[in-house]
Amino acid sequence: MTMANSLSIRDNRSGKEIELPIIEGTEGPGVLDFTKFYKEFGLFTLDPGFRSTASCKSDITFIDGDKGILLYRGYPIEQLAENSTYLEVCYLLLKGELPNQDQCGEFTKTITKHTMVHEQMLNFYRGYRRDAHPMAIMVGVVGALSSFYHDSLEIDDPRHREISAYRLLAKLPTIAALSYKYSKGQPFIYPDNSLSYSANFLNMLLSVPCQPSEISPVMVKAMDLILMLHADHEQNASTSTVRLAGSSKANPFAAISAGIGALWGPAHGGANEAVLSMLQEIGSVDRIGTFVERAKDPNDSFRLMGFGHRVYKNYDPRARILKKAAHEVLADRDRLDDPLFKIALELERIAQEDEYFKSRKLYPNVDFYSGIIQSAIGIPTNMFTVIFSVARTIGWISQWVEMISEKGQAIGRPRQLYTGHKKRDYVPLAQRKIL
Ligand code: CMC
Repeated sequence: MTMANSLSIRDNRSGKEIELPIIEGTEGPGVLDFTKFYKEFGLFTLDPGFRSTASCKSDITFIDGDKGILLYRGYPIEQLAENSTYLEVCYLLLKGELPNQDQCGEFTKTITKHTMVHEQMLNFYRGYRRDAHPMAIMVGVVGALSSFYHDSLEIDDPRHREISAYRLLAKLPTIAALSYKYSKGQPFIYPDNSLSYSANFLNMLLSVPCQPSEISPVMVKAMDLILMLHADHEQNASTSTVRLAGSSKANPFAAISAGIGALWGPAHGGANEAVLSMLQEIGSVDRIGTFVERAKDPNDSFRLMGFGHRVYKNYDPRARILKKAAHEVLADRDRLDDPLFKIALELERIAQEDEYFKSRKLYPNVDFYSGIIQSAIGIPTNMFTVIFSVARTIGWISQWVEMISEKGQAIGRPRQLYTGHKKRDYVPLAQRKIL
C-alpha cells in the first residue's frame, strides 16, 4: 500500500481547500482517503450502492471487472480451478498461502475431524416446518452454533478465531445436508470421514440408508469446482454484511448467519435458483425472444437472471469455467440433450448479440450455469443458494478474520443524508387532526 499522490477539493462555500491522499493498492484503482473529510468540511459522502466506495482494505481477493479477472490471494481462478481442490483453496484464503503437502494433509485432517454437529442440534431441525426453505433453516442453525461453542468465542484470541473458522468450514456441509434431508422427510445422513470434503457433502445430500448412493467422480469434481468458484468474491453484499455484523464484535457464528441472510436475495446468491426457474418458465428455445424483450422493457421488472454484475463488465470468469464443466457433467449423466441447457446456451447467444445487453455490458455471471450443473447431479433447486452459502463460508470467515486482526479495528457505522421532518413538538393523542 503506497500513498503516492493526492487530490485537492475546494469548498466553494468557504473557499477552503483540502488535500485528500490517494492510497494505491497492489492492483486496481487506488482510493481517496476520506477519513478526515467530515472533520474538515462538515460534510458526509453519499454513495448508497457503494458504486464508488471501498469499504475496507483487504489482501484476499482481487477482481478486475473490466477485464474479467478474478484472483484469490494473487492466483488466477482459472489456474486454481484447473489444478487445485476446494480445501486447498480454503487454506489459501484463510492463511494467505497455498499449503505444502504436510500442511495440506494436516489441514484436511483437522477439518475432517470437525464434520459432525452436536447431536442436540438435530432437535432444531424438527422445530421447522417441513416445507421451510432450507436457507431459512441455515440462517437459524448457523446462528445457533454460537450456543454450542462457548469455548471459542473470544474473538480477540487468534486461536479461538482459528477454531471457529475450522468448525464453520467443517460443519456447514453437514448443516446444509441436514436441512435438505429434513425438508425431504428422509433420515439424516451422518458425515463419512473416509470421503473427501466434496464427496462427503454429496453423500450426505444424496444417499439414503436403504441403498448405496451413486456418486460418480465427475459429480464430486463438479461439486468441488462449484465450491471453489464461489469461495470468495471480495466485498459483495453478504461479505460486507459479515464484516459489518462482525465489526460490533459479535461472534463469528452470528456474523456468518447474517451473511447467509444477505446471500439469500435474488440479486445476490438467490439468483442461481431464479435462473433455473426462469429457464423452466421459458420452457422452449422458441420462447426465448419474448423473455429477452421483457428483460429489455423498462416498464417490466423482469430481468434475465444470471446476467449482469455490479463489478464484471465482461464475461464472469467463473461462468466460463462452469459452462465448460456443465458439458462434462451432462455428458457424465447422459443428459447432453438437456432442454434447459439448450435454452441457456441459446439465451446466452441471443443476449450477447443484442444491443441492449451489449451496450450495458451484461454477460452471464456465475449463477447462469451453476444451477444446470447442480440439477444434473441431483441437487434440487431450493438447495442451490444453500450450496453457495457452504462455499462462501470460507470467504466470509477469512474476511472476518482479516478484519478482526486489523490494528485499530472499529465498529462499522455509516452515516446518512437525513430527509425526514425537521424537529417538531409532540401533539397529545386527543388533539391530533384526522388526516
Ligand atoms: N436483465 C436485464 N437488464 C439488466 C440486468 C438483467 N439481468 N442487469 C442489469 N440490467 C440493466 C438495468 O436495468 C440497467 O439498465 P438501465 O441503464 O437502462 O437502467 C443497467 O442494466 C444497469 O443495471 P443496474 O441495476 O444499475 O446494475 P447493478 O450493478 O446495480 O446490478 C445485478 C447488478 C447483479 C444486481 C443485476 O445485473 C441483476 O439484477 N442481475 C440479475 C440477478 C443476478 O443474476 N444476480 C447474480 C449476481 S452474480 C452472483 C452474486 O453476486 O451472488
